[in-house]
Amino acid sequence: MRSALFVPADSEKKMARGLECGADCLFVDLEDSVAANAKPAARQMARDFLLHARRRASRPLLYVRVNALDSGMTDADLDVVMAGGPDGVLLPKSQGGCDVQHLSAKLAVREAAFGLPDGATQIACVATETASAIFGLSSYKGASRRLAALTWGAEDLSADLGAETNRLPDGAHAPPYQLARNLALFAAVAAGAQPLDTVYPNFRDEAGFEVECLAARRDGFTGKMAIHPAQVPVINAIFTPPAAEIARARAIVAAFEHNPDKGVIALEGEMLDKPHLERARKLLARARE
Ligand code: COA
Ligand code: MG
Repeated sequence: MRSALFVPADSEKKMARGLECGADCLFVDLEDSVAANAKPAARQMARDFLLHARRRASRPLLYVRVNALDSGMTDADLDVVMAGGPDGVLLPKSQGGCDVQHLSAKLAVREAAFGLPDGATQIACVATETASAIFGLSSYKGASRRLAALTWGAEDLSADLGAETNRLPDGAHAPPYQLARNLALFAAVAAGAQPLDTVYPNFRDEAGFEVECLAARRDGFTGKMAIHPAQVPVINAIFTPPAAEIARARAIVAAFEHNPDKGVIALEGEMLDKPHLERARKLLARARE
């Protein structure tokens, strides 16, 4: 997924609009964007939306962001929304691989109860929302084959830290959040999960948003979360490998195929060896998706 748009589950209008805006994935939200007293109704609305959206011939991936495992609400969320057969569940405030396994067991129970294929529901985690979660980042590797993506968050982390802000005056993340971002990137790649960049809350600032998308792509993130439909086309454009890069990657792969005995070759004045070949293959795999 290049783009994953949050749609609050207590808003039929936003869920419906989410389906039309070109997002690769919708994160139907039962957590922070839904007030406590609206959660019971939002669960039913999320389930009904999933049942409706799944019938469409062409649709985005459908994930539900449940409430955190320590909220006491996760089971109530899953009891309702799993009847809608989501493609995945986004786990907020995740503390590490143990939380993935805990959620995985809860999903297995509901998959059996609702006649869904065993293991079909994927998991994505927001992996940096508390100070303690930072120390769990090394534990995602091998946690579960359901784990499809890892993302990170600066909003809840700054609340946990009691920080004044998480951004510098120029809009860039302050050092503690850059560290969280970078560690989440390493954790995702180490775990074989997709690294997904965090949200950009200032949704009217298109220039700042684009800068952050480009920096994410440069460093290895392969998609970004959105909070507003206007952010989706920008993300999709930036995270679609450009034709020139695809052509260059094809040329690199071809050059190595034509020189099977060589570890290092020169192409248009550049030295290429194994990491360049690996990068080219990864880009082509992403382009195929
Ligand atoms: N998904 C789908 N539709 C959305 C949307 C979203 N995330 N955000 C806005 N829209 C819709 C609005 O409903 C509005 O529709 P309308 O033209 O039919 O009235 C249209 O897009 C334009 O919205 P706009 O007026 O620019 O913004 P807003 O003030 O209505 O909404 C937010 C601003 C931040 C409240 C809204 O974008 C939102 O709810 N975002 C998601 C928040 C969330 O889920 N947070 C948790 C993860 S961090
Ligand atoms: Mg939050």
